[in-house]
Amino acid sequence: MADASLEIVRESASAGLAAATDEAALERWHRQHLSASGEVSLLRRGIGKLELSERKAYGAAINALVEVLTAQYDEKRAALAQAALQARLASERVDLSLPPRARRRGALHPLRSTLREICQAFQSMGFSIYDSPHVETDEFNFQLLNIPPHHPARDMQDTFYLAPGDDPSAPMDGPTDAAARVLRTHTSAGQIRAMRAMGPGPVRVILPGLCYRNEDITTRSEVQFHQIEGLMVGTDVRMSDLKGILLQFARQIFGGDQAVRLRGSYFPFTEPSVEVDLRCALCGGAGCRVCKYTGWLELLGAGLVHPVVLENGGYDPATHRGIAFGIGLPRLVMLRHGVDDIRHFFRNDLRFLQSFR
Ligand code: PHE
Repeated sequence: MADASLEIVRESASAGLAAATDEAALERWHRQHLSASGEVSLLRRGIGKLELSERKAYGAAINALVEVLTAQYDEKRAALAQAALQARLASERVDLSLPPRARRRGALHPLRSTLREICQAFQSMGFSIYDSPHVETDEFNFQLLNIPPHHPARDMQDTFYLAPGDDPSAPMDGPTDAAARVLRTHTSAGQIRAMRAMGPGPVRVILPGLCYRNEDITTRSEVQFHQIEGLMVGTDVRMSDLKGILLQFARQIFGGDQAVRLRGSYFPFTEPSVEVDLRCALCGGAGCRVCKYTGWLELLGAGLVHPVVLENGGYDPATHRGIAFGIGLPRLVMLRHGVDDIRHFFRNDLRFLQSFR
């Protein structure tokens, strides 16, 4: 009889436990059944009303009931805690599989990338790079290169003279003063410096860098532009070296089966002087708008180093000869990439720059 009532308590308590779906319900169930004021305690209090002979068995049955319910309660509590943890993990999940944002890649300026290629082309032919100052003296930029004051060749290289000393309001030096400071108009100024640094040994250098001229800024001219000067001096240097080196250079930069032609010209610091043309890469020599229907594109000035210049550099023109050339970088890059306005190069317009990525 007593056992049967315990069985009913167990069944209803178990059912209540199964129905609890959260921590609060679980604690309510515990208070109701297993706490000091709960259902089981009430059952214990009933022991005193039983016959002595029944008390022991009944007490043991209650203890067994408490044990079963406590075990069920512990199990349920662990299950609820586990479920809560799973729910939290699911809600706080971070998706690491999102694709990353694309990284923006920069690129070299078209002048810079072609300049590097040109340097590499000459380095592969045994030239090393020689650096010389941008602020030159009239002497190095002109006079030692056989361009005396008032020489008409100065007209083509009008430039910027610096105020003497540090006083910007002082009257400018003029071109008759050998020490007058000037922004170099061509990299040829470095020819004398390279020869004086390396003489009396052989010279095989290129001098890349910015030059400056007092020009109107147009689609074809800027006040600053890069040149690559080349200079080779030795006891066994000749015009055919010049032609071979420049043909090799043209093929490395413009590709495959380029042809060059040498045309007589004049520079005060070379004798003989030539203008070197590249067969028009656009029309293959047939004639087009870019080459003005001549089939050839003017690429650079060159020649045998003038005896006076050799002497100014410290070499004896009786035993030594030199070849020199000066390549204008912007024109070459414009030809190579079909750029129609030199001003793009220093405008820093991202749309222009990005087209070279
Ligand atoms: N310095 C000349 C110029 O700027 C180019 C040149 C260099 C010509 C070397 C001959 C030899 O126009």
